[in-house]
Amino acid sequence: MYESHYGLVAKPFQLTPDPKFFFASKWHKRAMSYLQYGLSQGEGFIVITGDVGTGKTTLANSLLANIETDIIAAQIVTPKLSPDEIVKMVAAKFAIDIHNKSKTDILKALEDYLYSLSKQGLRALLLVDEAQNLPLETIEELRMLSNFQQDGKPLLQSFLLGQEELQPILRAPNMEQFRQRIVASCHLSPLTMVECGEYIEYRMRNAGWEGDSLFSDGAKTEIYRFTKGIPRKINTFMDRVLLFGFLENLNGITTEHIGKVIAEVSKEMFTPEEMASHAADQEGEAPATSSAQQVAADKTGHSTSSLAPLITPEKLLNNDPITDKPLTSEQRRALLEQEVDYYKTMLNELVDALDDAITHKVKLTQYIDKLLKKKYKTYVKLKEDEE
Ligand SMILES: Nc1ncnc2c1ncn2[C@@H]1O[C@H](COP(=O)(O)OP(=O)(O)OP(=O)(O)O)[C@@H](O)[C@H]1O
Ligand SMILES: [Mg+2]
Repeated sequence: MYESHYGLVAKPFQLTPDPKFFFASKWHKRAMSYLQYGLSQGEGFIVITGDVGTGKTTLANSLLANIETDIIAAQIVTPKLSPDEIVKMVAAKFAIDIHNKSKTDILKALEDYLYSLSKQGLRALLLVDEAQNLPLETIEELRMLSNFQQDGKPLLQSFLLGQEELQPILRAPNMEQFRQRIVASCHLSPLTMVECGEYIEYRMRNAGWEGDSLFSDGAKTEIYRFTKGIPRKINTFMDRVLLFGFLENLNGITTEHIGKVIAEVSKEMFTPEEMASHAADQEGEAPATSSAQQVAADKTGHSTSSLAPLITPEKLLNNDPITDKPLTSEQRRALLEQEVDYYKTMLNELVDALDDAITHKVKLTQYIDKLLKKKYKTYVKLKEDEE
């Protein structure tokens, strides 16, 4: 709709994970290296986790788009599959006929297929996306599949990608055998503020944008603050920003424009209050925060006015982690003061909680004491009756 207004040949912020738009942030680069390292090893599991919308599927698609020709890859996106179902699904992905076959037959056919690949100098890779949905037994079944070997070399290698919930699944005590086969794992974090700006520019240019940036530096900072650097959120939001720019016939997008779009989308979407309140900041209601404060606020998911630990390891450095400019002694003192306030409040809350716990314990002890006394009296009475 707005592409021609900006001279674009494609929509820059489409939601489909498209390898053509792959942006190699620090974490995406690292995760990609792990996947490639895993491929070069030819064995073991690689596990990539990440928050919702941070780019796991995009990463998988990019890997598959650039995969070497001697690798036959299959990608499965898993709903909750049982062990039997996953075996069927894997076989089907490798074009094995599973019709009216028992699990044993399917496993045999799969092994034969993998073996024949190996004889042709090829190997098989299984990419399991949304792996957080897999029950433990199904992950265990994947481990069993990795046992197919020829001359000590596994015939099938698997990579697991999933949301954070995958981590506790893999940490379960009975997953030790699986854990021992993980050769590398990596967690995708959201983009940093600098990367968020670069990501926006990168996607704009990939869609045909030419010339200077359409967005002011302040606008990019606001976009980061609103989206917290999560690529899917950036995409959805940027689509609205571009639409707004088109409707308003803008040739440059500033902080003020971003504020208006935030206000608009906060009204329409089920945006958490914390983000919506940010829209109010845009209209000058809240005092400005330094980027250092904002980083802490963003990291904890709290606004700066709520309880948020404001000193992070970066902050103990002398530079603002975002702008890399030295913090003034006044800024450092302000941060320290907020930190002290935060811990004071937290200690007070802790003291209250402990007081409650002690009161409860005292009441319980009194109650037990009463019961014991009662029992003792009954006991004495019974004894007397006996005599
Ligand atoms: N490194 C990246 N380069 C370019 N676009 C990206 C990148 N990471 C994420 N995106 C974009 O962000 C959006 C979400 O990415 P993706 O679907 O890969 O996330 P996900 O981690 O798989 O999410 P979910 O947890 O919901 O499965 C997509 O539109 C994708 O294009
Ligand atoms: Mg995904």
